[in-house]
Amino acid sequence: MLIDIVSVFPEYFSVLDLSLLGKAQSKGLVEVRAHNLRDWTHDVHHSVDDTPVGGGAGMVMKPAVWAECLDELLGLEPQDMPQVDPTAELWDEPVQDSAAENPGDAANPGDVANPDNTVDSADTADSAGTAGITDVADTVLIFPNPSAPLFTQRDATQLSHARHLVFGCGRYEGYDARVPRYYKARGVDVREYSIGDYVLNGGEVAVSVMLEAITRLLPGFMGNPESIVEESYTGSNALLEHLQYTRPTTWRGITVPDVLTSGDHGKVDRYRRDQALARTADIRPDLIEKLDCVALSKADRKTLIALGWEVSGRNPRKL
Ligand code: ADE
Repeated sequence: MLIDIVSVFPEYFSVLDLSLLGKAQSKGLVEVRAHNLRDWTHDVHHSVDDTPVGGGAGMVMKPAVWAECLDELLGLEPQDMPQVDPTAELWDEPVQDSAAENPGDAANPGDVANPDNTVDSADTADSAGTAGITDVADTVLIFPNPSAPLFTQRDATQLSHARHLVFGCGRYEGYDARVPRYYKARGVDVREYSIGDYVLNGGEVAVSVMLEAITRLLPGFMGNPESIVEESYTGSNALLEHLQYTRPTTWRGITVPDVLTSGDHGKVDRYRRDQALARTADIRPDLIEKLDCVALSKADRKTLIALGWEVSGRNPRKL
């Protein structure tokens, strides 16, 4: 997977050379390139921003600088697109052209034709290499934005199948809204994501968060691939994880639950599943409300009933 990140603080991304992502880069599993947006400016001050049209506080990042940079990274010729609606929402508007040629378009959030939201990619072995990535059909362009849909584990899973990710980090009051809409109209799979309901100073931290969530899913990235299977927010029936303990079984007078030392794997599994259901119902009832009752086991349904949920409908409902 090739990852291009554009930022006015590219040095920020030197942290990506550490830890497992650093190892994955050494192994050739991913290649991360951080670019300075100011390298695409032509004025003496290398300015990337201007005042907001219509007035207001702060500065907005100029579309022309972004376009020069993104055209180069995406291998696109500059071209006018007079039909682009600058107010369209990226996540619910169909692309205006080249939908058929761009497999990534089918992966837009909410696309009913593609319920799994799979990013089209080369096969797994090929996607490890970064050579020969020149086509926008292989690329997903991502802008972190506090005013966009939330980035979820589902998005991370889907994006882990892409060959080329390009991240554009906004600063100040953000980037000119025409930029993502323009590239979507050019046939690029463009996404805007928020990582949470709070405002950061720029997109850099959000990109680091998304990148970690995406790259750890790459085949060969984790030492123990099983550790990503059982996690919170994974799979169709996503729950928060059960609590974990290690040795000693008694520490500062606190003993781990007896069932975990019983050696009865069936009982351990049921205990953990019940705990996951109870913790999720308590901390994130919204996740329980999204569960598919038909996909739940009889034992799961019994547990939810005991926790005060009604499970005879399509999704659980708190009584
Ligand atoms: N930029 C500023 N705040 C952000 C957030 N919460 N998510 C994504 N990008 C951001």
